[in-house]
Amino acid sequence: MKRALGVCYYPEHWPQEVWADDARRMAEAGLTWVRIGEFAWSRLEPRPGELRFGWLDAAIDTLGAAGLKVVLGTPTATPPRWMLSRHPDMLAVDAGGRPRGFGSRRHYDFSHQGYRRECARIVTLLADRYGRNPHIAAWQTDNEYGCHDTVHSYSAAACDAFRRWLRARYPGKGGDGDIEVLNGAWGNVFWSMDYRSFDEIGLPNLTVTQPNPAHSLDFRRFASDEVAAFNRLQVDILRARSDVPIAHNYMGRVTGFDHFAVGEALDIAGWDSYPLGFLEERVEATPACKRRFARQGNPDFQAFHHDLYRAVGRGRLWIMEQQPGPVNWAPYNPAPLPGMVRLWSWEAFAHGAEVVSYFRWRQTAQAQEQMHSGLLRPDSADAPGLAEVRQIATEIAAAPVVAAARAPVAILFDYDADWAWRAQPHGRGLDYFRLVFDHYRALRSLGQSIDILPPTARDFTGYGLIVAPGLIHMDDDLKAALAASGGAVVIGPRSGACKGTMRTPVPLPPALPGLDVTVARVESLRPDMPVALAGGGAITGYREVLEGGAGVLEATGTGEPVLMAAGNLHYLGAWLDPAGLRRIFTGLCRAQGLNVIELPTGVRLRDTGVERFWFNYDTETHEVLGRKLGPVSVLREKTAGEQDSRLSIHPHADQSGT
Ligand code: GAL
Repeated sequence: MKRALGVCYYPEHWPQEVWADDARRMAEAGLTWVRIGEFAWSRLEPRPGELRFGWLDAAIDTLGAAGLKVVLGTPTATPPRWMLSRHPDMLAVDAGGRPRGFGSRRHYDFSHQGYRRECARIVTLLADRYGRNPHIAAWQTDNEYGCHDTVHSYSAAACDAFRRWLRARYPGKGGDGDIEVLNGAWGNVFWSMDYRSFDEIGLPNLTVTQPNPAHSLDFRRFASDEVAAFNRLQVDILRARSDVPIAHNYMGRVTGFDHFAVGEALDIAGWDSYPLGFLEERVEATPACKRRFARQGNPDFQAFHHDLYRAVGRGRLWIMEQQPGPVNWAPYNPAPLPGMVRLWSWEAFAHGAEVVSYFRWRQTAQAQEQMHSGLLRPDSADAPGLAEVRQIATEIAAAPVVAAARAPVAILFDYDADWAWRAQPHGRGLDYFRLVFDHYRALRSLGQSIDILPPTARDFTGYGLIVAPGLIHMDDDLKAALAASGGAVVIGPRSGACKGTMRTPVPLPPALPGLDVTVARVESLRPDMPVALAGGGAITGYREVLEGGAGVLEATGTGEPVLMAAGNLHYLGAWLDPAGLRRIFTGLCRAQGLNVIELPTGVRLRDTGVERFWFNYDTETHEVLGRKLGPVSVLREKTAGEQDSRLSIHPHADQSGT
């Protein structure tokens, strides 16, 4: 795979006279991809049925003539105003029962059949017209499913579709939905919640107190299936008319739908990386930590998503949108330090990205994103990010063709587990994403490269360590595959805690083959009541009481078991703090022969199979194993084959051997 750069462009925002010059400048800066069209519906079809594709023809021709490859987005994230007049009930309804309004984007309900037909119509028109256009080299469906909290709708359309979904999920002997099967599966005898028919079932909002977690979980599963079906509709139309790959651009820390399920229909997982916005808005960190990395971003958050979405894309990963300077949407929007755009870009490549595409070409002078930087200023002069992009373009041209390699460590990530934790968190702030991210960070701070795997993974060959925190639903097949794997496996906390739809299994969890451990009791802890581990570190937030004959590898200061093991299987009955996780993982990695490198905060590494990358997110120089890592720097070392090996990449030293 050869790495490449791209940019997001909105020809409909600029006079046609500037397109050719824009295209020339893009190519001259070393960009090869340009994504267009994903919000352009009102200019493609200003009135129902009145089609104006001429400008898009011209834009594609102009970009293509400059040698750029075009990613064409379907415009379904921004239905025009007239669409609402045709389908007044197409707006999603929030949990408070209020319809969401027109005037921004993503104002549609995934379950609205009329809107789905409109989407199929516009996508068909686009695919018929451009499916074989030589300049169209990829498609993007919609834009950021789930962003702005748009997966769950409490509308009449969603309710109807949910009832249909439940009928199919809870069949009786004849194959049709059987309400008694559902009543049993949900445990509706509790609080007299039994239903007489599927038509009596509502959505799990506006209940007096907590809804039945089984109801909530099934609603989340249903809503995720709706996103996958909505996406699939577009993909089927595109595939029938075009042979180029199809991508979607996912967002950071959006867990409302199963990205693996959506990704199955697609060729590439794209995602939109806004490290400074994420740090302010989507990462739990102390104010001091946020301050320290305010202009760099969290050193693990982007990497986590690269690894997650590489799995969603079955190895094919793009950064469809990369922050090029300050954004506009977080609580605070500082500018990145010089060198950060390059660092983020190289980090994406190190984690397997084929393309890094910047958002956006020219900063807009109007509307919501007026304050969001681009590679050009609104007056078309170069913005600071562009110089970094030119530099990366030169560097990737000189870099080798790379292939993906399996990492030594794997973490399982299951969207269904996220929904189960949300349905029944048991304590404030106990969030599945954060739990998995805590494990990921701890392992990364020990110098590990990590693959994130879907819960359907069964081939664990080659992994020295496999970690499955918080995987509430685990089928027997997965348990057996983990037990049979050659690596050390760490399961828990709360893994295997439920069966089917939030039912506590008997025998009690985790019920792992050959591991005599039982979770006898669980409790959640206030933030100010950590429980110390005997060997250092502490339990925070969530804790289980473990019983059984398996060996005790870790215990609390008062001797209660925390980590128990038999053979390769380990059960961890607690949510540990970073010190506790690091200590346990250090021991397990070493026992598996994995090289542990304790990295300073801000320094991370990633092996690609032929290269080792070192990233320093910090503003100080760090020395690791004899290497000096300057502030905001990247060091690329070739690890396979070649001798000469160090290529330093940081703002003040261009490619230079050391
Ligand atoms: C993304 C979105 C883009 C743009 C960008 C601004 O979430 O896909 O359209 O809004 O954020 O940072």
